[in-house]
Amino acid sequence: MDFRSFVSLAIFLSALLLSSSPQVLAEDVSSMVEASLKVSTPFSTELDTLQKQINYTFRSVGLLRRPMTHASFSEENNKALSILGASIIETSVSLQSLIKDVDISAKDLNVKIADVSKVESSCNSDGTRLGLQKIVRVSHKTNVTSPAVVCGAFRAIFGAIAIDAVSSDEAGRIYGKVHSGIGRAATM
Ligand SMILES: *[C@@H]1O[C@H](CO)[C@@H](O)[C@H](O)[C@H]1NC(C)=O
Ligand SMILES: *[C@@H]1O[C@H](CO)[C@@H](O)[C@H](O)[C@H]1NC(C)=O
Repeated sequence: MDFRSFVSLAIFLSALLLSSSPQVLAEDVSSMVEASLKVSTPFSTELDTLQKQINYTFRSVGLLRRPMTHASFSEENNKALSILGASIIETSVSLQSLIKDVDISAKDLNVKIADVSKVESSCNSDGTRLGLQKIVRVSHKTNVTSPAVVCGAFRAIFGAIAIDAVSSDEAGRIYGKVHSGIGRAATM
């Protein structure tokens, strides 16, 4: 192999290497840029607005990137946080219902829990009201307005708050306010 073809091969190989995971790379680069320069990319501006809407300021705003990232977009995504978020939401609703009426029947309590748990229900409408369908990062093949995507992101917000505040009570409290409509004025 002469020198020239060696150089072409090297260039070709490094191009291949760099293009192998553009999304992951782009994400690393944008986190680094955001961390070092505090530039406002549209995504980080949207995260700021979202924090105002839910009236919770993250100690580590990096934690809010994850809820707003669908599994179709990157390895760093909201799947696990949305599981925690779903149980925080259920706990919050059970707690509030029983505080209001300690004699509530198991059937009625289950209905209330189902209301906030089903993907097609309040979870989707609360998330849509917050405009999550405009923020969540998905692959181009994924429908960002679908209830599963919006609901997953909505739940994951509360998982992320619990981690950030090291308190699922705090996350449940924020959920109660968002669900009862504190963000409403801001989005209308
Ligand atoms: C937002 O949160 C702060 C601190 O937790 C609280 O003092 C304030 O009343 C809240 N605002 C609204 C509109 O709930
Ligand atoms: C995306 O999902 C929404 C809500 O389910 C639906 O109304 C819409 O038709 C879907 N769009 C596409 C392109 O599938």
